[in-house]
Amino acid sequence: MRVDAVTLFPEMLDKPLSESIVGRAREEGFLKLGFVNPRDFTDDRHRTVDDKPYGGGTGMVMMAEPVYRALGKVRKKGSFVILLTPKGRRFDQSVALKLAKKKHLIFICGHYEGIDERVTPLADMELSIGDYVLTGGEPAAVVVIDAVTRLIPGVLKKEDATVNETFTGGLLEAPHYTRPGVWRGKEVPKALLSGNHKLIAEWRLAQATELTGRSRPDLAKPVKKTPRGGKILK
Ligand code: 6GU
Repeated sequence: MRVDAVTLFPEMLDKPLSESIVGRAREEGFLKLGFVNPRDFTDDRHRTVDDKPYGGGTGMVMMAEPVYRALGKVRKKGSFVILLTPKGRRFDQSVALKLAKKKHLIFICGHYEGIDERVTPLADMELSIGDYVLTGGEPAAVVVIDAVTRLIPGVLKKEDATVNETFTGGLLEAPHYTRPGVWRGKEVPKALLSGNHKLIAEWRLAQATELTGRSRPDLAKPVKKTPRGGKILK
């Protein structure tokens, strides 16, 4: 997949997206990440990208033209353009799955108080990562690109690593444990040590259902019938 970001601060994406799994996905060519800076598409001596808001008010507003020209530099016929803004649709796993199917994503990152409203129609989708205000769209772009990259086939070693995970099935994931079997007096749940795959699957579903109901009742309704009468094995 190709991804381009229109941003005044490319380092805010390039650095965090160079580590760990996403960094390796870039090295291995699963993700081709590029940046285009509206500041490079200005005509004045000061390379101005922002100005005072019409009607008054605090903060500065990004000007439409440098963003428009920067977008024009990377936009192709099949590109899907996403404007990052707290006013957008809330990002979740179902959006990540849809975006992971695209060939080319372009993220427009607003900064300061936002971008001149007249660029909004250039975008195919407006996206927010949650109900809080960031200084700019850059950290949001990192979040979305991370979530999408790990869904690109081949990026995660195990084919099914994304199949049973949190949110994909509408449930939070059951807890994980690794060695040692007893850590500071705390034991790993017996079901996980049983070697019985059916029992383990049942234990995980029961845990996931209970956890989702307790921690995120707003998510898809937990399944009614849990195996073994909903009893959680210790
Ligand atoms: Cl996409 N941008 C900004 N500036 N703040 C946000 C956001 C985006 N999503 C949540 N808060």
